[in-house]
Amino acid sequence: MGEAASAPVEGGRRVLLKLSGEALMGEHDYGIDPAVVRGIAAQVSATSAEGIQIAIVVGGGNIFRGLAASARGMDRATADYVGMLATAMNGLALQDALEQADTPTRVMSAIAMNEICEPYIRRRAIRHLEKGRVVVLVAGTGNPYFTTDTAATLRAVEIHAQVILKATRVDGVYDADPEKYPDAQRYSRIGYTELLSNRLQALDATAVSLAMDNEMPIVVFDMTVEGNITRAVRGEPIGTLISGGPTS
Ligand code: GTP
Repeated sequence: MGEAASAPVEGGRRVLLKLSGEALMGEHDYGIDPAVVRGIAAQVSATSAEGIQIAIVVGGGNIFRGLAASARGMDRATADYVGMLATAMNGLALQDALEQADTPTRVMSAIAMNEICEPYIRRRAIRHLEKGRVVVLVAGTGNPYFTTDTAATLRAVEIHAQVILKATRVDGVYDADPEKYPDAQRYSRIGYTELLSNRLQALDATAVSLAMDNEMPIVVFDMTVEGNITRAVRGEPIGTLISGGPTS
């Protein structure tokens, strides 16, 4: 009885949607485009209303890029903390858009900022999901030197999500950078080890290793195509599936 909060979700679908901060800035170079956030919220709301449990980990690169700042001389840990604060801004913007679309949403932060959102407590996050609330997880893992992709993987494993849906601006994982090499080939499926050994840049190695150790599949898809978040959340085949299975 008392263990229900830590048991894997039964029967239903629970997904972890990873949104990069850049996803929220639309055509702008910086910041949050409310129209883009509304579009994301509409897709998340529609799929949440279908009974799919959705947790979101959001990045902060549209406001502050920790790695870039540290490359320009800022202390890396401090830069990463600023980046974590940026994710909280994005999380609140998402919550606002989701609740304007009548979807109850809770923002939970890995760094205490109780005046503006809840602290991340794993069992409470699971309860929120079970009650049909969208849970937006901010401030990464709460630690510098970890990316939001790693935070997404950690949280997905913790809350027993069935899959990580990584929303990006490319439509999957390629054997070379498609922006530099036009003849690069997209994988429909790729194994964790192949992704790691080929040093493909779709996700950082820490996130991939954690996913591999916990057999957590990751779908990389293009969120700029209208309706793709809905398709990914519903489990329609889309983008590239990273898993322990064969590569194709
Ligand atoms: P239940 O316990 O399932 O009823 O969940 P709930 O989130 O509706 O109830 P709760 O009384 O915990 O929270 C009510 C509201 O306060 C929700 O909007 C929460 O997101 C918010 N809330 C809860 N804890 C905190 C906190 O530590 N900081 C902030 N800023 N808001 C909080």
